[in-house]
Amino acid sequence: MTNREPEPPLWEQLAEQSKQLPQGERLQKVMAVHGFGSRRVCEDIIAEGRVTVNGVLAELGRRVDVEVDVVSVDGVEIGVRPGLVYYLLNKPVGVVTTSSDTHGRPIVVDYVPAEPRVFSVGRLDADTEGLLLMTNDGELANRIAHPSHGVEKEYLAEVAGGEVYQGAIRRLRDGIELEDGVTAPAKVAQPSPGILRIVIHEGRNRQVRRMCEAIGHPVTRLVRTRIGPLSDRRLKPGEWRELTQPELRLLTEAVALVAQRYDSDHEQ
Ligand code: URA
Repeated sequence: MTNREPEPPLWEQLAEQSKQLPQGERLQKVMAVHGFGSRRVCEDIIAEGRVTVNGVLAELGRRVDVEVDVVSVDGVEIGVRPGLVYYLLNKPVGVVTTSSDTHGRPIVVDYVPAEPRVFSVGRLDADTEGLLLMTNDGELANRIAHPSHGVEKEYLAEVAGGEVYQGAIRRLRDGIELEDGVTAPAKVAQPSPGILRIVIHEGRNRQVRRMCEAIGHPVTRLVRTRIGPLSDRRLKPGEWRELTQPELRLLTEAVALVAQRYDSDHEQ
């Protein structure tokens, strides 16, 4: 008889061995997958001290568990949280942005996967077509709906009455009196007579339609062509796709930038 300690059971030995294996993915790999450039470039970003993991400055060689760790670059969280989905839908005319409709009209959630449940970020009128962001990320949705009135949204408006004169375009640009107050300055161009490209960052009810009405050119067709950095000319009405990681990063950055500007404008 020897008085050697009995060996632990095999599964305990395996668990111990796997604990000793490096855990998680290398930070630069996770960043590269999220569109920050090659791994080399990502290593430089880490070395420049621009990356934190769970709020702590990250060092080169750091591994992260994408299921639990929160990675931020330049203070902006990158989309590594699990279970969150982001869809870009080209909403067709006649489809409503609410979660149900008493008139039996089709609703936007019918166009995207049922699980996980998503909601639209902001809304488009039933008679407006174009890009709509849908997600289950309430935090990003709230940030987009920040009181600074969110990111830029670009519309193509076909208007009645033919060519719009410069004076009227100037009124749209400067801000126009509507029943709920003067609109913020807008970017307005007329790529062809009777077609206006309008960029606004407010989200008032039927805003573009009311702006065009106010200059005597009611809208006959309205299409949202861009939400901040998101646009897609190839997405047909009724089609949707997931945002790419670089798009998600650009969107998160755009939202953070708007919020920062708003905060510094409103500092006491
Ligand atoms: N402005 C409008 O008038 N309608 C929309 O759906 C969006 C912006």
